[in-house]
Amino acid sequence: MSSTSRSQLFGDLDVTAQLDAPIGAERTWFGIGGKADALVSPQTEEALVTLIERCAQSSTPVRILGKGANLLVDDDGVDGVVVLLDTPAFSGLKFNREGRVHRLHAMAGADLFKTVNELKRQGLAGMEQMAGIPGTIGGGLRMNAGGSYGCIGDTVDTVRCCSMSGEVLYYERSQLEFSYRKSNLPECIVLSATFNLEPDDPVAVRSRVSEIWAAKKASQPMADHSAGCAFRNPLDRDGERVPAGRLIDEAGLKGLAEGGASVSTQHGNFIITDPNATASHVRRLMRIVQDRVMDHHGIRLEPEVVIWERTGITAE
Ligand code: EPU
Repeated sequence: MSSTSRSQLFGDLDVTAQLDAPIGAERTWFGIGGKADALVSPQTEEALVTLIERCAQSSTPVRILGKGANLLVDDDGVDGVVVLLDTPAFSGLKFNREGRVHRLHAMAGADLFKTVNELKRQGLAGMEQMAGIPGTIGGGLRMNAGGSYGCIGDTVDTVRCCSMSGEVLYYERSQLEFSYRKSNLPECIVLSATFNLEPDDPVAVRSRVSEIWAAKKASQPMADHSAGCAFRNPLDRDGERVPAGRLIDEAGLKGLAEGGASVSTQHGNFIITDPNATASHVRRLMRIVQDRVMDHHGIRLEPEVVIWERTGITAE
C-alpha cells in the first residue's frame, strides 16, 4: 500500500496501524499464510466508521480479523485494509438487569471463550452452547457460529453493525434470522450485540459448559494447529444435514497428507498443519478431499474455513 493511500485512509484517524503485518503466521489458528498490507486497529467507533467509509469511497478492500479461528490466509497475503477490533472500545462486556432477564451487551471484538467464562462466573444461562467455539462475538454472529449444542443466534436479541459504506444499522430480534452457519445480516461489520440471559446456579452453568468441553476434547484434535471444521456439514439427497467428518472418514481420507497439511486421524473434518505447512498445502488438500468425497458419496463439500487472498484491486 502506498504512503499516499495510507495517509488518505487512516493517517489522521485514531488508530494504530502495522504495515506488512504477518497475520497468517501470528494471528490465525493455522499459524500459516501471508501478510496483510495494512493491519489497522481503530481506537474508537468513530474512527472505524470513517475508515470503512473511506475504504468504500476508494474501493479499497476491507476485511475484519477476529481471533483467526476459522481463517486461512493465502501465502501471498492480502491487500487493502485488515481491521482488528482488539482495542478496549471493541472488546468489552457489560451487564444490566430488566426483571428476571439479564442483558449482556457485548462488543464485537469480545472473545467467545472469555464471554462464556464470565457467564459461568456470574451464573447466567443461555449461552452454554457456545462453550469451546473459538472466535469473537462479531465473527460468531456473521456466520452463526455453533455446534451440535446450538448456535449464537439462539440467544441474541439485538445487533448493531456498520454497513460496508459506513452507515450504522440496528437490528431487533424480530428482524434477525439464523440458520445453519448463516445469518441474514447484510455484508457488514458487527459493532455490538445484546443477548438475553437467565440467572441460574453457577454450578449448573459450569457443569453444562464442562460437559460440552469434554465432548469436544474427546472427538476433536484440540492440541493440533487447525481452523476447526474445514467443511460445512452438507445436505444429503434427502435434504438431511450430514456430518462432513463422517463422509470424509467413510471415504477413507483420515491421515491423507499434502505437504505439511493432513486430514486429522481423530476427526475427518479437521485439517491439521505441521510447522512446514503452507496455505497452498491446505488449499490443495481441501480440493483433493472435495473431489474424493464427491467420487465416494456424490456430495459436494463446501469450505467452512474462510479463505482470504489478494483481490488485485489497487487503492489509488
Ligand atoms: N464422525 C465420524 N468420523 C469422523 C468425525 C465424525 O464418523 O471422523 C461422526 C461422529 O461419530 C458423529 C457425527 O459424525 O456421529 C458428527 O460428528 P461431531 O459430533 O464431531 O460433530 P460435527 O458435525 O463434525 C459440529 C461442528 C463443530 C462442533 C461440533 C460439536 C460443523 C461443520 N461442525 O461438528 O464445529 O465443534 O459439531 O458441537 O458444523 C467448527 O465450527 O469449526 C466446528 C468444529
